[in-house]
Amino acid sequence: MSLPPGFLDELRSRTPLSQVVGRKVTWDMRKSNQGKGDFWAPCPFHQEKSASFHVDDRKGFYYCFGCHAKGDALSFVRETENVGFMEAVEILAREAGMPMPARDPKAQEKADRNTELARVMEAAVQFYRLQLSTGQGTEARAYLDGRKLTDGARQRFEIGFAPAGWQTLWDHLRGKGVAEDLILGAGLAKASTKGKQPYDTFRNRIMFPIRDARGRAIAFGGRAMDPNDNAKYLNSPETPLFDKGRSLYNHGPAREGAGKGKTLVVAEGYMDVIALSEAGFTATVAPLGTAITEDQLRLLWRISPEPVIALDGDSAGLRAAMRVIDVALPMLEAGNGLRFCLLPEGLDPDDLIKTQGAAAMQALLEGAIPMVNLLWRRETEGKVFDSPERRAALDKSLRATIKKIADPSIRSHYGEVVADLRRDLFGQGRAREGGGGFGGGFGGGFGGRGGGRDFVPNPAYRGGGGRGRFAQLPVAPTEGTKGSLLVSGGDMAEERLREAVILAVLITHPVLIPEFEHQIEDLDLTGPGHALLRGALLRHADLGDVEKLKEEIARDAGDALETLFSLGHVTTAPPVLKTEDTDLARMCLAEELAKLDARRGVRKEIEHAVEDLGGLADEGVTWRLGQAAEAMARAGRSDLNDSGDLGEDRTALSQQLQALIDSQVWVKKRH
Ligand code: UTP
Ligand code: MN
Repeated sequence: MSLPPGFLDELRSRTPLSQVVGRKVTWDMRKSNQGKGDFWAPCPFHQEKSASFHVDDRKGFYYCFGCHAKGDALSFVRETENVGFMEAVEILAREAGMPMPARDPKAQEKADRNTELARVMEAAVQFYRLQLSTGQGTEARAYLDGRKLTDGARQRFEIGFAPAGWQTLWDHLRGKGVAEDLILGAGLAKASTKGKQPYDTFRNRIMFPIRDARGRAIAFGGRAMDPNDNAKYLNSPETPLFDKGRSLYNHGPAREGAGKGKTLVVAEGYMDVIALSEAGFTATVAPLGTAITEDQLRLLWRISPEPVIALDGDSAGLRAAMRVIDVALPMLEAGNGLRFCLLPEGLDPDDLIKTQGAAAMQALLEGAIPMVNLLWRRETEGKVFDSPERRAALDKSLRATIKKIADPSIRSHYGEVVADLRRDLFGQGRAREGGGGFGGGFGGGFGGRGGGRDFVPNPAYRGGGGRGRFAQLPVAPTEGTKGSLLVSGGDMAEERLREAVILAVLITHPVLIPEFEHQIEDLDLTGPGHALLRGALLRHADLGDVEKLKEEIARDAGDALETLFSLGHVTTAPPVLKTEDTDLARMCLAEELAKLDARRGVRKEIEHAVEDLGGLADEGVTWRLGQAAEAMARAGRSDLNDSGDLGEDRTALSQQLQALIDSQVWVKKRH
């Protein structure tokens, strides 16, 4: 349906957001400033005691500083009432006394049909429940008794029974005048392929009605009574009401339970949800016969920032957990996490509560481990890392996994934890080595290419007593890099100075870190301890305060920090000195990053060119190319603080290089 122009604006202006939200929350009057249209309350979208939910009544927007929920009056109604856009418009319009424009007949039809389907589903719920109490349901009741399902639980979860006949529900609904097409459309019966009458989808099964968050009956799960039945559980097919990947069993009650402070638990099956709820863990849901989907994770995080996934203690349960990890990694955000509660081998929550009681379950939930630890288990369990190759393989796989995390801050924290675990695994003897190279790489560089190639600090720059003296020296390449192809000392030293300036400016202007985060992550840092500094810098970026940040960095990378701030170029750099001048710092950062990028581009180009020569690069050629590169670079080199543009140097250098290659200097030398 299309709305007339201006309708939504009019609607928004007639329904103040504070009024719409005010029905669902209790304002924190001490924090709020009504006169300014500034309202605060505990967030209705996640569990909390403090008031992080902010409504800006003038702008008509809300934002939660805890769970990052945000939007306007319409999205608020959509989220809280679990309705679509148009329904939300209707709800608000009704309140504002605005007549809705005439509906698009098609949309109207669809909405009407869904309402009718839901009504049919409701009739089926009542029918199945009734069957459980009749003579037909004797066996079913005995089964439920055997599973220790109390009467109360049967009522609360509206357990029913689908009799064994082929058309019991069909006949019942048809008898009430329900159209065939609606029964089929609700997935309650299936058309016969043999030209006979449609037959009931669920036969001789214990029935678990599935309701959406608003309480509409949208589907059923049916458990076979007959142990030989080839499907232990059968779920409704997808219908206009039921999208199984976007639905959760017990969604509504769980949301309510979580609102009352209960831990949100995700179990595997219907019976687990019921057993957990009955044992007091009322905020429990289950996916519906499939692995947890992205949409379901989103729904879960809307209820609670850290749901606990309780999985059966068997290999299938563990595999399911691993799948959840893969789905969740790219979706992680600050405040949105997962924990995992692994049950003893062979038990599901239902079994555990029955055999060991609610307290045992409580203990397990309290011991739920963060996702990062399970991830570590997946990578390491049952493996032996007794060779450099195996360790390297582990590192590679860990890096690849952590790379999937989209959020840079979370990625860096994962790196940190993983680096610690790795240190523990590989033993204390290697702690120092790991701390220098790997820790920095995982913590800071994971997102970027830089992480994997950490510089191994030259002992000359790290030594305890001599540090002061050495630190005065310009940063020179290490033995390793000095010998490497085409690296002229001057070039590398200059790059490292640029790196140093970049790091120092960031440390003295932490407000700029978020802005440059991605670029910093992507940097190939080669200076002594620079990668380590970057790791620490990114990890503690949210501190904001310069002194605190320096303190934290000193803890993680003290030597490197000291070296950095003893470099003449660094301490005298205007953006480092002028700590108040953020604009200057920003300009300097942008420029230094661009220069580094350009310069490295040049070097890469030469390296690639040499590779292209097919291994012909013997000493002489290397030397010549190196000389050429250095000469070129020197010609275009500008002082650190000027604004020379490397773009031109780069072109010139490429041309020069090409000329060198064309003249085939090396061919002569080879003969
Ligand atoms: P389980 O096989 O772990 O069963 O399936 P359960 O929940 O412990 O069931 P009980 O205790 O034997 O009654 C877990 C969930 O997987 C889905 C169902 O949602 C079930 O609750 N499932 C299982 C199916 O959809 N189909 C099946 O055939 C089996
Ligand atoms: Mn079970």
